[in-house]
Amino acid sequence: MRPCNVLSRLASLLVAAAVALPSSTAATSSSLHELHNLVRRASAGSGAPNASLVDTARMGLLSSQRASWEQGTAQSALLEYDAGSWSVFAGGHGNGPPYRPGFQPSKTPDGVPLAVLSMAYHSATAQDGMGKLGMSITGDENMTDGSALDSASCGEGVLLAAFVAKQINATRGFWINAAQDQLDYVLNEAPRTEAGAISHRTRTVALWSDAVYMMPPFLAAYGLYTNNQSLLQTAYDQIRLYRQAMRFPDGPGEGLWGHILAYSANGTARWLDGQAWTTGEGWVAAGMLRTLASIAQSPYSTQMASQKADLVAWTKEILDASFPLLDSSSSLFHNYMNDTTTFRDTAGSTFLAYAAYRLASMSPSDDTHLAAAEKIYQATQGQLTRIGSYLTPVVNALDFGAQGSTSPEALSFTMLLEAARRDYHAGNVTGVDGPGTGRNGAMPGIKGGVAAPVLVAAVTATLLLLLS
Ligand SMILES: *[C@@H]1O[C@H](CO)[C@@H](O)[C@H](O)[C@H]1NC(C)=O
Ligand SMILES: *[C@@H]1O[C@H](CO)[C@@H](O)[C@H](O)[C@H]1NC(C)=O
Ligand SMILES: *[C@@H]1O[C@H](CO)[C@@H](O)[C@H](O)[C@H]1NC(C)=O
Ligand SMILES: *[C@@H]1O[C@H](CO)[C@@H](O)[C@H](O)[C@H]1NC(C)=O
Ligand SMILES: *[C@@H]1O[C@H](CO)[C@@H](O)[C@H](O)[C@H]1NC(C)=O
Ligand SMILES: *[C@@H]1O[C@H](CO)[C@@H](O)[C@H](O)[C@H]1NC(C)=O
Ligand SMILES: *[C@@H]1O[C@H](CO)[C@@H](O)[C@H](O)[C@H]1NC(C)=O
Repeated sequence: MRPCNVLSRLASLLVAAAVALPSSTAATSSSLHELHNLVRRASAGSGAPNASLVDTARMGLLSSQRASWEQGTAQSALLEYDAGSWSVFAGGHGNGPPYRPGFQPSKTPDGVPLAVLSMAYHSATAQDGMGKLGMSITGDENMTDGSALDSASCGEGVLLAAFVAKQINATRGFWINAAQDQLDYVLNEAPRTEAGAISHRTRTVALWSDAVYMMPPFLAAYGLYTNNQSLLQTAYDQIRLYRQAMRFPDGPGEGLWGHILAYSANGTARWLDGQAWTTGEGWVAAGMLRTLASIAQSPYSTQMASQKADLVAWTKEILDASFPLLDSSSSLFHNYMNDTTTFRDTAGSTFLAYAAYRLASMSPSDDTHLAAAEKIYQATQGQLTRIGSYLTPVVNALDFGAQGSTSPEALSFTMLLEAARRDYHAGNVTGVDGPGTGRNGAMPGIKGGVAAPVLVAAVTATLLLLLS
C-alpha cells in the first residue's frame, strides 16, 4: 500500500469510526480493529509476511508425501518461519539460539517449536539401518542405494529435539542416538572422492550441488550444539571441496556451479548434469549461509574468521553470477540459469531470493541483490492456488529438467523467503560475528519510511475530527 493510500484509508476509517460511535458499538469496534490492523501493517514496513500465502504453503507442505530431503527442508521452513529465535539465524536481543554454548538470555525464547520436534520424531522413526534419517518410508527401500546425504537434512531438527530433551551431552537417548547414527554414517561410511568430498550417492561417488544444503549445515549444527570445533571445520572443508570440484571457473556461467559430477573408479570426474540448475544454486547459497550462521554462533567464531570470510565471498559469488541472469519480464530465473530456452522456475527463484535476504541480514554491506530479490518476492505473490499448487511454473522435484506444478521443496522455499524477508526488516538475524553484529537497525519500512507518515496522518485526522 502506498503512503498516500494509507493516509486516505486512515482518514476515512477514522471518520467511519466517529460516525459509528453513538449508535453501534459493534461497527465501531470492527472499524477500530481494521484501523488498528492498518496501522500495524504499515508500521511493520515492507517486511510483514503474507500470512494467507504462508497458511496455504504450510497446508500444501504438511499434506504432501515427503522424501527425506523434503522432510529436512520442511523442518527448516517451520523452524525459520514459526520459531526464528530457535534457528541458527537467531540474533534478536543479541542472544542467539538457546542451544548456543554459553547462552545467557536477556529474554526467554518463544515456546519450543513442537511442529519441528514432531517432524524430527518422524524422521527419526523412519531412520534406516545405516543411520540415514527419514529414508525408510515403505520399508521396501534398498538402503545401500540412493542418496547418501539427503537424510542429513533432517539432522538439525533431531539435534533440536535432543537439546530440548537434555540429551545433547548424553551418550544414550532416543534423540541423540538418532543424531549420532546419522553423523556416523556421513563421516565414516558414505563414499568419498580422493580429495575427501563426501559423496551424495550411497553406491557410487558423485557430487550434487544439492548436498551443500543437506550435509554441511548438519555437521555445523552438530558442532554448535556439542561445542565441537572440528565438526564446524569439517562442514567448512566439505563446502570448500565441493566448490573446488563444481564451480565453473570460466565460460558463460563463471561463478555458478554445475549440478551433478560423477566419478569413475579410477577417480576421473565427468558431468552428469553440467548445467547451472537454478534450485541447485539455491541449495548451495542457502547451505553456505546456514553453515556460516552456526560458525558465527559458536565460541570459535573469532578463530574461524577466514572460514567465515570465505563463506560470505562464496555465497556472494553465486548471487553475483546469478542475478544478472534474472528474466526481467517475469522476475524469475530459468530452470537452467544461463539457458533461456528452459522454463522459468518459481522454486529456485524463490530460494535465491531467500539467500539474498539472509546474506544482506548477516553481512549488511552485501545487499546488492535485494531489489531484485524483492521483485521475485512480489512476482511470486498471488501465484499459489488454494490447494498449494503454483500458477507460475515450478521445477519437478523428482526430475530436475522437467516442469511441474508444485513440490514440497517449493512450498518450503516460499515459507523460507517470507521468514528471511521478515527477519531482514526486523533486524534480528545474527551477523557474521555473532548475534548483535548483523543488520540490526530500526525498522526501515518502505524507502523514506511509512510508519512516521502514518502517525502524522493519524494525529492530523484526529485533530480535524475534533475541530469539525
Ligand atoms: C525476528 O522477529 C520476528 C518478529 O518478532 C520473529 O517472528 C522471528 O522469529 C525473529 N527471527 C529470528 C531469526 O529471530
Ligand atoms: C555440552 O558440553 C559442552 C562441552 O562441555 C558444553 O560446552 C555445552 O554447553 C554442553 N551443551 C549442553 C546443551 O549442555
Ligand atoms: C541393493 O542394491 C545393491 C546395489 O544396486 C544391490 O547389489 C543389492 O542386491 C540390492 N539389495 C536388494 C535387497 O535388492
Ligand atoms: C568432535 O566430533 C568428532 C566427530 O564426532 C569426534 O570424533 C571428536 O571426538 C569430537 N571432539 C570433541 C572435542 O568432542
Ligand atoms: C552455461 O554455463 C556453462 C558453464 O560455463 C556452460 O557449459 C553452458 O554451455 C552454458 N549454457 C548456455 C546455454 O550458454
Ligand atoms: C577412467 O575410467 C573411465 C570410465 O571407466 C574411462 O573412460 C577413462 O578412460 C579412465 N581414465 C583413465 C585415466 O584411466
Ligand atoms: C497474499 O497471498 C494471497 C494468497 O496466495 C494472495 O491472494 C494475495 O495476493 C497476497 N497478497 C499480496 C499483498 O500480495
